Amino acid sequence: MKNWQFLNDYTLRNGVKLANRIVMAPMTEQSSFEDGTITTDEIEYYRLRAGAIGMLITGCANVNDLGKGFEGELSAANTDMLPGLRRLANATSTGTTKSILQIFSAGRMTNTKILRGEQPVSASAVPSLQPNAETPRELTPEEVEQTIKDFGNATKLAIEAGFDGVELHGANTYLIQQFFSPHSNRRTDKWGGSLEKRMAFPLAVVSECAQIIKNYADRPFILGYRLSPEEREEPGIRLADTLELVKALNETPIDYLHISLADAKAPSIVDKTDPEPVFAKIKSVLSTDLPLITVGHVASPDQAESIIEAGNDFVAIGRELIREPHWLQKVQNGDEDSIRYTISKSDMAELRITRPLWQFLVTAFKRGFPLSTDEHQIQH
Ligand SMILES: Cc1cc2nc3c(=O)[nH]c(=O)nc-3n(C[C@H](O)[C@H](O)[C@H](O)COP(=O)(O)O)c2cc1C
Repeated sequence: MKNWQFLNDYTLRNGVKLANRIVMAPMTEQSSFEDGTITTDEIEYYRLRAGAIGMLITGCANVNDLGKGFEGELSAANTDMLPGLRRLANATSTGTTKSILQIFSAGRMTNTKILRGEQPVSASAVPSLQPNAETPRELTPEEVEQTIKDFGNATKLAIEAGFDGVELHGANTYLIQQFFSPHSNRRTDKWGGSLEKRMAFPLAVVSECAQIIKNYADRPFILGYRLSPEEREEPGIRLADTLELVKALNETPIDYLHISLADAKAPSIVDKTDPEPVFAKIKSVLSTDLPLITVGHVASPDQAESIIEAGNDFVAIGRELIREPHWLQKVQNGDEDSIRYTISKSDMAELRITRPLWQFLVTAFKRGFPLSTDEHQIQH
């Protein structure tokens, strides 16, 4: 068997040892009940993928009702969700696999229909540039404070449910990112204005969740942070802003940084003259005791290895783990040749893929989700 570096273990600075460097990327399945309670179908989908990988990050769970971004989204908004969250933690925290609940608020990336008549909220009353985007209402200072507490409450639920950690979803244009972005944050109070003030909400959320962990966790509990390094909007987040946020995060008690990229080795999407991969720029300012997780179009073991060889600590795999739940077991058994890179609709039941997830994959992600019948196949 090949001596893959991604099979090496890693000990986080809070003492938690991760069995290897393969992480399941957070992917919502849009398959929860209407109130955000997890369904048995989702539990079985996750159970199939846990067991060998070092870390499994769940799809995003909203921390309050106004934070809901999709139909079928998982909720961590109140104690009613605890029994379902316990079942999810139980199915995915296996000892070898550490299970992380991703928590978020969608902010302006939702609509009145999903919120059952309520207007979406954000840092400021600025709509996103997406087609048909609704104009959100600006959160009041009291609501900002309450939202920070809601992230803390969701963290407490994750601790009680038996997860090994939470990941703060500060990426993919959702509320935490909306406070950091000069596009969506036009506030003039302590939560907006300068770069430093735009960092205040993300850092306050980190601080609240870290305090909850300190107060309530009876075991080392992982706190991760996911961010999107850049925005195309004008004004928008630029890499220089993100590098300052990373430096500020270095000073907080997070245990890892996770960057959300469409292509793990991609250079800037804004400055086309700079060929250096974005992850390398981030790694260069990240504290040496904080590991970096990078994601984006990784399918084969060779691709995963090249991400680690390039200087990343962990590689997150999304769609390929949907197609191949036992990707890591196959590598561990020297059986790489049987790894599936394409699937067809008739594989859904075996792979525990729910109908809403299938629909989402073949519509929103069609080009990046090779089916057996597609001409386009992932190069590996
Ligand atoms: C179906 C689906 C759902 C996703 N849901 C989330 C999510 O809940 N939270 C998140 O941070 N990213 C989400 N993402 C982004 C993935 O975490 C990942 O960054 C992206 O799929 C690129 O990785 P890949 O090329 O390995 O699939 C989702 C992606 C897919 C395909």
